[in-house]
Amino acid sequence: MSDPDATLSDLLHETRTFPPPPELAEHANVTAEAFETAERDRLAFWERAAERLSWTARWDRALDWELPFAHWFPGGRLNVAYNCVDRHIEAGHGDRVALHWEGEPGDTRVITYQDLYGQVCQAANALAELGVRAGDRVAIYLPMIPEVVVAMLACARIGAPHTVVFGGFSAEALRTRIQDCDAQVVITADGGYRRGAPSPLKANVDAAVADCPEVRHVLVVRRTGQDIDWHERDLWWHEVVDRQSREHSPDAFESDHPLFILYTSGTTGKPKGILHTTGGYLTFVAWTHWAVFDLKPERDVFWCTADVGWVTGHSYIVYGPLANGASSVMYEGTPDTPHKGRWWELVEKHRVSILYTAPTAIRTCMKWGAEIPAEFDLSSLRLLGTVGEPINPEAWMWYRENIGRGECPIVDTWWQTETGGILISPLPGVHTTKPGSAIRPLPGISAAIYNDEGQVLPRKDTAGYLVLTEPWPGMMRTIWGDDDRYREVYWSRYPDAYFAGDGAKWDTDGDIWLLGRVDDVMNISGHRISTIEVESALVSHPKVAEAAVVGAADPTTGQAIVAFVIPRGATRTGTDGEQFVRELRDHVTHEIGPIAKPKQILVVAELPKTRSGKIMRRLLRDVAANRELGDVTTLTDSSVMDLIKEKLPTASRED
Ligand code: PRX
Repeated sequence: MSDPDATLSDLLHETRTFPPPPELAEHANVTAEAFETAERDRLAFWERAAERLSWTARWDRALDWELPFAHWFPGGRLNVAYNCVDRHIEAGHGDRVALHWEGEPGDTRVITYQDLYGQVCQAANALAELGVRAGDRVAIYLPMIPEVVVAMLACARIGAPHTVVFGGFSAEALRTRIQDCDAQVVITADGGYRRGAPSPLKANVDAAVADCPEVRHVLVVRRTGQDIDWHERDLWWHEVVDRQSREHSPDAFESDHPLFILYTSGTTGKPKGILHTTGGYLTFVAWTHWAVFDLKPERDVFWCTADVGWVTGHSYIVYGPLANGASSVMYEGTPDTPHKGRWWELVEKHRVSILYTAPTAIRTCMKWGAEIPAEFDLSSLRLLGTVGEPINPEAWMWYRENIGRGECPIVDTWWQTETGGILISPLPGVHTTKPGSAIRPLPGISAAIYNDEGQVLPRKDTAGYLVLTEPWPGMMRTIWGDDDRYREVYWSRYPDAYFAGDGAKWDTDGDIWLLGRVDDVMNISGHRISTIEVESALVSHPKVAEAAVVGAADPTTGQAIVAFVIPRGATRTGTDGEQFVRELRDHVTHEIGPIAKPKQILVVAELPKTRSGKIMRRLLRDVAANRELGDVTTLTDSSVMDLIKEKLPTASRED
């Protein structure tokens, strides 16, 4: 958890404001009137948003709401892939570029809507040939190559929910996800490029499916040409997909048909399979993408730099932009390969007009220096966005000045895997922005800030817990296979509202400032990782007796993982200790993936606990942040903290 008090005091000093550029405001897709329309009749407002899509049967009602389960547009039928591809061709836009794809090594592909149609049809036909039927789950573990978009749309086309697993996750993480949703087909690649080195995707799949007898086929895209092992269940994508027909007539599915499951960390060791369905989700991502980014599909070039393995990639690389007929840039690699100006080179090359990225990436670019983007022509940019974590005013200003020429509005968009799409954000043609504020809930979104007792706080200079008090079309349907956990996690803290797990504040103008997580979920470079997940990984190491993990503030990644570990047997010190710490970091990488590798591991003899045996994370956070310790009177033995503090100088740290 970040420190809400520190964040708050930072933000209280922020007084700069930036009104919308008049030219943008004049032609904006959405004006202030939308708030009044939505206020008058929220459901009618979302019905109008749904009308932007093509349905084969209109819905009977806007919403069936049995708290906490929402069924949007019941009776409505549609096909997501048809909406994202076919209908744009029918409207005469087949030649429009859907994806300007750039591989890390410098290879490129330009894919028009017509091309995408042929490829999605072929992949859909291939999946059908492999016996995948509507409702069957397909796991996708691919790098950022066009096939990942094709695979997702092919699944959507035949009604087979996909679960995309981020390519940086380990074989173990992949295995638990495949097993949890019982996927029978896995789509992967031999590897993908990251900083020039091919990643071992296929090898990870081999290790994962060794324990998944239900997996019948592994479809492998050849990307790097690296050596891989081959098994009976394996099939090359180019052998199975390329020979298929480039036509496929899609079925329409009920609005509530499952579209995808995306796993995200919660406060337990077991990731939650967030289920999104068809009609509500697509309505919501299409509308929010069009409204928040003021998308003009005929002339904008949109670039969301996220990985498709996270929800940002699902909603704002794939489903939102394609449903709107947008032209997007998609880039395979890291921003510093082969040089630190790679992103800006791509903005210049493709005349990107809307850029959507994460605060952590902005802070990294700040560290590299403003002279790098200054070498490129960024004059095509007209709108900038951020997502994933609170953005500090300094990074916001840097982004505006050095990337946005001091002219582009910035939309700081707050949302979650669970919310499907953006809920809180300025509208670029409507709102005056402030560095660090996500400004207002979108039209049709009912956000509130509650205090501990569940009372609504007035929208003026108050801080508490962010909640959503009415359903919205993009909201999750449930946790895959676990309705009780869905109720428990999101709807038990306050019985009448969705509890987001974030602290937030209304300022004196009634604008919202997000203050970070209020639970045991960390936010590392905009990626959610639970403390308990990392703890479970650490204690699964044979030499670890106990472990506690906290997030500490980090100037680049927002938060960094700090672990306190009690070893089995004698405490390991000196060189032996360093080796031990290295082993543990590798072990976490193996169990979860490199994103979960602790930045710092403190080997300690004891951990501070309450009388009931609960680890006092607040104190550990204090140690991690190297601050004065708080009240220790509820500890069983307050000297434990001295022991921990003594350990600080010998701690291993990776810089
Ligand atoms: O804490 C909030 C933070 O990211 C969490 C959601 O993480 P995830 O489901 O991985 O989705 C990330 C991309 C949508 C939230 O609970 N968060 C996301 N956007 C913002 C944010 N915190 C502050 N400001 C934001 N704009």
